[in-house]
Amino acid sequence: MTDDPDWTPATRLVHAGRHPQDHYGAVNPPVYRASTILQPDLATWREATKPDFPGYRYGLLATPSSRAFEEGMAALYGAEHCVAVSSGLAMITIAMLAFTQSGDDILVTDSAYEPTRTFCDGILQKFGVSTRYYDPRIGAGIADLIRPNTKLIFTESPGSLTLELQDIPAIVQAAHAAGVKVAIDNTWGTALHFNPFHHGVDIVLEATSKYVAGHSDVILGVMLGNGAVGRKLFVTAKQLGVCCGADDLYLAQRGLRTLKVRLDRSAESGLKVARWLEHRPEVKRLLHPALPSHPDHALWRRDFAGAAGLFSIVLHPLRHEQLGAFFDGLRLWGLGVSWGGYESLVIITDPSHVRTAVLWTETGHLVRFHAGLEDPDDLIADLDAAFARVAALAGS
Ligand SMILES: Cc1ncc(COP(=O)(O)O)c(C=O)c1O
Repeated sequence: MTDDPDWTPATRLVHAGRHPQDHYGAVNPPVYRASTILQPDLATWREATKPDFPGYRYGLLATPSSRAFEEGMAALYGAEHCVAVSSGLAMITIAMLAFTQSGDDILVTDSAYEPTRTFCDGILQKFGVSTRYYDPRIGAGIADLIRPNTKLIFTESPGSLTLELQDIPAIVQAAHAAGVKVAIDNTWGTALHFNPFHHGVDIVLEATSKYVAGHSDVILGVMLGNGAVGRKLFVTAKQLGVCCGADDLYLAQRGLRTLKVRLDRSAESGLKVARWLEHRPEVKRLLHPALPSHPDHALWRRDFAGAAGLFSIVLHPLRHEQLGAFFDGLRLWGLGVSWGGYESLVIITDPSHVRTAVLWTETGHLVRFHAGLEDPDDLIADLDAAFARVAALAGS
């Protein structure tokens, strides 16, 4: 047995999807690099052409490497189907394509990851699907926005840049009352800290490039669903010709085994750094849902079992050379996109150009941090030195 629903997620993480005795007892499954898969005889060949053939037919559709990872992720979320796709962005675009057609309308949170919006405003629009963006904090009020042709409500909670939490149960209730499906980008929550299926969400997406793979060396996403929803996700991905490289799948399933310890450590360090930043005079606002100062903290306490190490701050306005002094001298915080890896990252960005439903009017600079696995005191010291460099330029 490689999984037992009575085990806690921490235990299931270690064992789900692993079948050592299928591989001569090897603890980790081998990497199956396969396109062609030979059938042993004509009868099996004929069986293999049927859509519900349980074996392997072609590398695009499934290999033992994809199944090992998908089985582990499905078990963690308690979902019937998991489909691994080639990136976190692909999981979003494929799920949207799967549940819309020309003439449909979708509602997307204004706090969504920017490339999600780019896809909606570009390719989806080109194919006749309109997108309306809504206030992430709308909750049950989403009911007023639903139109007869609305097919999907897309959520991301918290938004990965501006960290607003969404009242997912309230949104699901309003959506289902109108026959509309709900999808969530659950990359911050992960299966360990927020299981959207427990709140009625239909389509769960997680960019496993982040915490699951966890080493900044893999790009991969997963789409999960039950029954016909799950099958549609699979069929759409395969019709689009999407699959994943065996080595990436292997690394992601290996990442699962250590996810909890890495995530706990990243979250704990993130909180320590965030609490320190909150008291700095240079910091105008802290955006971390797991801290009481966050406007949605009550929702986080209600719905989440833990935090991630990703949060943002708004810095009081600084001059260009002061910003340069802050970022250019950092030794531990790498200036780069993505998150969930073992190393700490920081980016500076301005969300005002991507907000349409709730405008971003903050003066100052939005800086997003991802706390990695370094000692949090060293991370704080690195930021302390950065603020000292900024202060040294104050009068100049
Ligand atoms: C919240 C969120 N969703 C999706 C993605 C896309 O994942 P990927 O980089 O694997 O395409 C990202 C990437 O940063 C993200 O932050």
